Amino acid sequence: MELDYGTLSSEHLTLRPLAMYDALSIARLLGPDPEGLRMTASMPEPCTEETARRWIAQKISSSTGYAFAVTRSEDGEFMGVIGYGGPPQEITIGYWIGQPYRRNGYATEAIRTIVQQAAGLGIRRLFAETFPDNPASSRVLIKNGFRLAGRGIRNLPLQGGIHEVLHYVIELDGCTSTEE
Ligand SMILES: CC(C)(COP(=O)(O)OP(=O)(O)OC[C@H]1O[C@@H](n2cnc3c(N)ncnc32)[C@H](O)[C@@H]1OP(=O)(O)O)[C@@H](O)C(=O)NCCC(=O)NCCS
Repeated sequence: MELDYGTLSSEHLTLRPLAMYDALSIARLLGPDPEGLRMTASMPEPCTEETARRWIAQKISSSTGYAFAVTRSEDGEFMGVIGYGGPPQEITIGYWIGQPYRRNGYATEAIRTIVQQAAGLGIRRLFAETFPDNPASSRVLIKNGFRLAGRGIRNLPLQGGIHEVLHYVIELDGCTSTEE
């Protein structure tokens, strides 16, 4: 079953529920991008159409999260994924934008939209994690009002074991984005 939790629109982007047919686009973008894949910490490696299909199947059958295809509104181009979910006290967002589309402000815009949706759903706090060697990811969080809450370690089997991570958090009560 594919969940229908709505489509979100912003200035340049349409975030629509992820669908099985996105597997090919995911594989095309992340397959040849091992460094981007490593930064996501959760996408399948190797990222092929088949492994992407399995990953999408897990996401769209989850009852504890939302996963969106990040598409360009003007032509429907698939550019990446954003989602959030997890236990109620620790709802975490994850995202990636395909290499050809980076540095156009799309991740910033998509995160802003998700933060607004989460706030509208009554979620009080959103978390995010990045690797210390991923300044672009830290940047898009800070630009959306997240603050660095600390450092920790995570066992990430897909990434070969223990890794240091940065923890970010945003309190959603009365939150506003802070463009810096
Ligand atoms: C992190 C990522 C999502 C950013 O997507 P994006 O669409 O390029 O992001 P935006 O264009 O909205 O913003 C990127 C910001 O990071 C900055 N940036 C990019 N590369 C940077 C670098 N190497 N060092 C410092 N800042 C960097 C940009 O200048 C921009 O900030 P600015 O608007 O203040 O100039 C994208 O690089 C990505 O998908 N990477 C691989 C997967 C990943 O890291 N996912 C996140 C896992 S936590």
